[in-house]
Amino acid sequence: MSDVKTYPIPQNFQDAHINKETYDVMYARSINEPEAFYREQAEQFLTFERAPDAICSWDLSKGEASWFAGGKLNVTVNCIDRHLPARAQQTAIIWEGDDPAVDKHITYAELHEQVCRLANVLRARGVKKGDRVCIYMPMIPEAAYAMLACARVGAVHSVVFGGFSPDALKDRILDSDCRVLITADEGVRGGKSVALKANADKALAACPNTHTCLVVKRTGGAIQWDASRDVWYHDAVAEVPAECEPEPMDAEDPLFILYTSGSTGKPKGVLHTTAGYLLHTAMSFKYTFDYREGEVYWCTADVGWVTGHSYIVYGPLCNGATTLMFEGVPTYPDASRCWQVVDKHKVNTFYTAPTAIRALMGAGNEYVTRASRQSLRILGTVGEPINPEAWEWYFHTVGEGRCPIVDTWWQTETGGHMLTPLPGATATKPGSATLPFFGVQPVLLDGEGREIEGAGEGSLAIKASWPSQIRSVYGDHQRMLDTYFSTFKGYYFTGDGARRDADGYYWITGRVDDVLNVSGHRMGTAEIESALVLHDLVAESAVVGYPHDIKGQGIYCYVTLMAGTEPTDALKKELVALCTKEIGPIAKPDIIQWAPGLPKTRSGKIMRRILRKIAANELDTLGDTSTLADPSVVDELIENRANR
Ligand code: WTA
Repeated sequence: MSDVKTYPIPQNFQDAHINKETYDVMYARSINEPEAFYREQAEQFLTFERAPDAICSWDLSKGEASWFAGGKLNVTVNCIDRHLPARAQQTAIIWEGDDPAVDKHITYAELHEQVCRLANVLRARGVKKGDRVCIYMPMIPEAAYAMLACARVGAVHSVVFGGFSPDALKDRILDSDCRVLITADEGVRGGKSVALKANADKALAACPNTHTCLVVKRTGGAIQWDASRDVWYHDAVAEVPAECEPEPMDAEDPLFILYTSGSTGKPKGVLHTTAGYLLHTAMSFKYTFDYREGEVYWCTADVGWVTGHSYIVYGPLCNGATTLMFEGVPTYPDASRCWQVVDKHKVNTFYTAPTAIRALMGAGNEYVTRASRQSLRILGTVGEPINPEAWEWYFHTVGEGRCPIVDTWWQTETGGHMLTPLPGATATKPGSATLPFFGVQPVLLDGEGREIEGAGEGSLAIKASWPSQIRSVYGDHQRMLDTYFSTFKGYYFTGDGARRDADGYYWITGRVDDVLNVSGHRMGTAEIESALVLHDLVAESAVVGYPHDIKGQGIYCYVTLMAGTEPTDALKKELVALCTKEIGPIAKPDIIQWAPGLPKTRSGKIMRRILRKIAANELDTLGDTSTLADPSVVDELIENRANR
């Protein structure tokens, strides 16, 4: 790929925390002497109450990993208490409201008090170490307080993205048996309110074990109230002490569950533990973003996703950084919002998703140039492959060519960055997530599971444990083993395909399974199919992704109706509404095509490969259709395809 551009490490990053030489030395050490390397890193980044007995051990063929066994620590002591002597009055969280006129600075001292108070409320309500607490919140500081309050008392939080439907919320509450839910009356995004409490009421109607619903008053809008269950957050925290003893946790005690989609079945509760997760997020925050004392850092993700967990809350706070939390959307009041916020709060690092970059690029450069953006030093992306055009625009127009871009590849299951440039160490190539982070050993495997040497393309897998590795799927450990540790024995399988070029740089080619990535939101095709077939008039459905200019992937649904059913636009609308109801607005189909028949093998398996090609309008690479039970269904689908 000689036509690929390479951008050298900028001159002004020569004194970054990690330069090319230190990267090479530290990377080699992290692989060859992980015990020594991680002992030192843990000493630098973590405060243990009791030192660990061992640093690491693992057996990926059994999906086993243990980091810092025997160590005792509390995440909130690491993220808050230990910063107090030096930074009690430093801002921990800058909250930028949906309304550009509304913001708030929360110091580390205030964060400490808020977290302690809420932790005391949880304890008073019977929450103990190991209990699960569900958090269904808008992007307000209380969302971070809630996560940290759980960690304070050793409860395991399960944050459910505020855009999920009541049904999706209910499934998640039941799966991990959360007895307490923390939510808000309403959320506010782009000037519109989101009925969180009303959604929570619907979900909780089917969750008899959930005895407490703490409600933050965000808007004061009208809501229903169940006095036997609902408690105003502000009343509860006012009644308890402002100090709270942290629960000493084992290094391998669970910290949180986060549900994510896979190829099959319902979303899985990915389980992360304490010390390894915190170390990897803290290290990667500091090194990937070359974080400096006093800098302001902004990640636009929602705390409902792993990016919000690792890089709004845990990684930044563990480093004593100032993290910006944004309630709104990048296009409200207009497409200049992000850059106005950058100027207003003197943001140094800006971390967002390619879908947002593409949308802002489409809005026009004047929205960017209206702001000075002089404070920006580093730009980051995450969540999906970034196309080189968007990368170039981000680099040249937003960053004026002076801010390195860190394209970070990782997953809910990996907890933190796995492949990423480091600003002072890695020359970048638009569209490549470049090289592995410390401790990460990526490999490309061929169809037979053999490691590909040198340049090539294959399934991306990881060969050795790293500290923030997934430890289990909540309530179904076997499912973790089947999903990630069985396809290729002895490796963690990512579900992504990748190419490695002659410089050893990785280029993610996208999922090799039936997982969609729509606007950086991960979704299983099976989840959408299950929603569609709930409709009485739907006999069968098959959902695939197709290339979408802004969203990365769009949702394309083939729907077979019951015999004799009239295919109408009204019915299409009902199906779209059904997906929104069952899963949430993020699962809204972009295209529904009526499919009198689906291409199936003689054994009845749907040939998704063909459906993907039709959806992408790539008819010349349709491949062999002769093994189909009825090849003529393909002609019909092509004839009526909706994306031309
Ligand atoms: C995709 C988000 C290309 C990938 C942190 C992965 C990416 C899935 C990148 C995980 C990137 C994430 N380049 N693809 N920089 N980052 N992905 O669990 O397909 O929501 O498997 O975690 O997003 O999505 P998840």
